[in-house]
Amino acid sequence: MTETPDPIAALGADFTDDPYPAYGFLRAADPVHESAAGFWLLSSYRDVSAVLRAGLSSNPRNVTHGAVLGQYERLGGTGAMFARTMLEHDAPDHTRLRSLVTKVFTRRAVAALETRVTELVDAALDRVADAGRADLVDALAFPLPFAVISEMLGLPPDSSDRVRELSGLLVRSQEPVFDPAVLDSVARAGDAMVALVRELIAAKRRDPGDDLLTALIAAEQDGARLTDDELVAQVVLLYIAGHETTVNLIAGGTVALLRNPGQLAALRANPGLTGNAVEELLRYDSPVQQTRRITTAPYTVRGREIPPGTFVIACVGSANRDEEFWGPDADQLRLDRPDARRHVSFGAGPHHCLGAALARLEGRVAFERLVRRFPRLEFDGDVVWNGRVNLRGPAELPVRV
Ligand code: HEM
Repeated sequence: MTETPDPIAALGADFTDDPYPAYGFLRAADPVHESAAGFWLLSSYRDVSAVLRAGLSSNPRNVTHGAVLGQYERLGGTGAMFARTMLEHDAPDHTRLRSLVTKVFTRRAVAALETRVTELVDAALDRVADAGRADLVDALAFPLPFAVISEMLGLPPDSSDRVRELSGLLVRSQEPVFDPAVLDSVARAGDAMVALVRELIAAKRRDPGDDLLTALIAAEQDGARLTDDELVAQVVLLYIAGHETTVNLIAGGTVALLRNPGQLAALRANPGLTGNAVEELLRYDSPVQQTRRITTAPYTVRGREIPPGTFVIACVGSANRDEEFWGPDADQLRLDRPDARRHVSFGAGPHHCLGAALARLEGRVAFERLVRRFPRLEFDGDVVWNGRVNLRGPAELPVRV
């Protein structure tokens, strides 16, 4: 593989700590950006929401040129595993894989989880109250979504440290990374994650339950609906997507509230605002900053033609701050923003986030209880960001209560 400088990582920590000034610059100067590494990056709301709905491919195997090709080759078996997930399939396979799990993620099915989510949040907040201070990532933002997705799958919570470590590496495959050493560590993490998930599946086969994993195993045993490798890949995807995203909503959202005390006070005064506040927090600091599509025919944006076989990054994090769409206050947090729900944080089109209702529930309950429980919540040190371009959020969030 030839080594290509990583144009986004080259921007460094200033960028990953706060990418919004760079995105603002990009939208103004080069909204249809052709990267030297061969991918294109769309950053305006108009172009991002259009490309997500344009029926392009989501399968990176359709990429024919650019450094991204080398990235996927270098990922080896891990790349092959991701290629079996619904995220990287087009219809009809995408429809088949997604339909096996949609039932448990509908708004109604998710609403039934509210009592359990509330219990988990309150237990976490009890521990914070006892200690008087905490790293809110470790205390709430990570364990809540991890426990919820583990319970939905029917998996034991005791693998959390290992899964957290591995998935923290694996998510780097979802952003442009061209450093061979990083890619090799991602590939190794993928192999380890597959081995772990295979063990969990074997245990579940011996001891089935009333859970999502048992249902997926039944679909696999049925023969036609799901292969064994596909089963493993969907479980890895759900495991990762179930917590690597919502952790950023809860932790990043809390940072946004603490940095905007007027807004936090408004939320305290009016808890009825929490639903819209979650939408605005999703917009203001997107837990997932990018998703991608691959052209299989020429695709024209603002008069520029993107050739077939090109990896196109739809930068939802930037679209969510586009002043052309949101108006001059796009960079401000306004929890009562009337059209906040029009953010593109969950993507759009056939791949629109399967877990959106679940993420919204977890976010709403977490913010509701946190704000009510701790009237004196404040920072207890500096926020440390996780240094990622895509699944970006705080790695450490020290607070005092
Ligand atoms: C897909 C964001 C939480 C499961 C996606 C996509 C985005 C996204 C941007 C790609 C959409 C596209 O390309 O059009 C988020 C955010 C979350 C979150 C911001 C939290 C705040 C979750 C949760 C789960 C989940 C809790 C559940 C387990 C999935 C799955 C896909 C997906 C399975 C692939 C869907 C498909 O390809 O059809 N998510 N997500 N997500 N998400 Fe989420």
